[in-house]
Amino acid sequence: MNIKIFKNTDDIGKVAAMMFSTQVISKPNSILGLATGSTPIPTYKAMQKNYDEGLVDFSQVTTFNLDEYIGLSHSHNQSYYYFMQENLFRGINVKEENIHVPSGTSEDTDKIGCEYDAMIEASGGVDIQILGIGQNGHIAFNEPCDEFPMGTHKVTLTENTIEANARFFETKDEVPKFAITMGIGTIMKAKKIVIIATGENKADAVYGMVKGEIKPQMPASILQLHPDVTVLCDESAAKRIL
Ligand code: PGA
Repeated sequence: MNIKIFKNTDDIGKVAAMMFSTQVISKPNSILGLATGSTPIPTYKAMQKNYDEGLVDFSQVTTFNLDEYIGLSHSHNQSYYYFMQENLFRGINVKEENIHVPSGTSEDTDKIGCEYDAMIEASGGVDIQILGIGQNGHIAFNEPCDEFPMGTHKVTLTENTIEANARFFETKDEVPKFAITMGIGTIMKAKKIVIIATGENKADAVYGMVKGEIKPQMPASILQLHPDVTVLCDESAAKRIL
């Protein structure tokens, strides 16, 4: 793992955005794996700036998002599809038909999951994947469990994740209880992974990811086995690995 520690989150965003922009400059039809949450917002802002300044053209890019809440349609203002439109897509020139977010409203999540993995595979695979990390070590919505899940699948969100995400909803009761997420196997197939952790509440998870035993109870620990992972942390998130 290539670990870089920064003083502030804007610098992390600039570096992560530059990794994405460089990827797209060197391969204009790159496949980008994208994430939601507070963590990637500075990266998405910096990607928009790179685009505004004419540094990078996203017109041939294809994107696959990690996950979506079950029960929220794309137009719901807390859906991850909506988040991506607001925080990235409307500020760059990715074509609508090249944007993929798993459907949270389909009855048959097994079928949707298999189709999503097949689409990623058919595209040639994710060239670069951005990830955040949960306080409990989850990546995407792969919560701590007894076995690393392979493909895109339905998950029951843990109480910890529901509480962490309640800040985006009027009440905690409104947070969906289920989600559809790329599996650990899907994520590990990405050619390059950039994982960002900011804030003291991520320090234990960062420790588990970087120095802990590789085990499904700490999902991010699997990244120790990936050949090309860059960890971008602020000092608070990195405090247990310094
Ligand atoms: P956050 O979420 O960026 O909102 O902290 C990260 C995650 O849960 O993966």
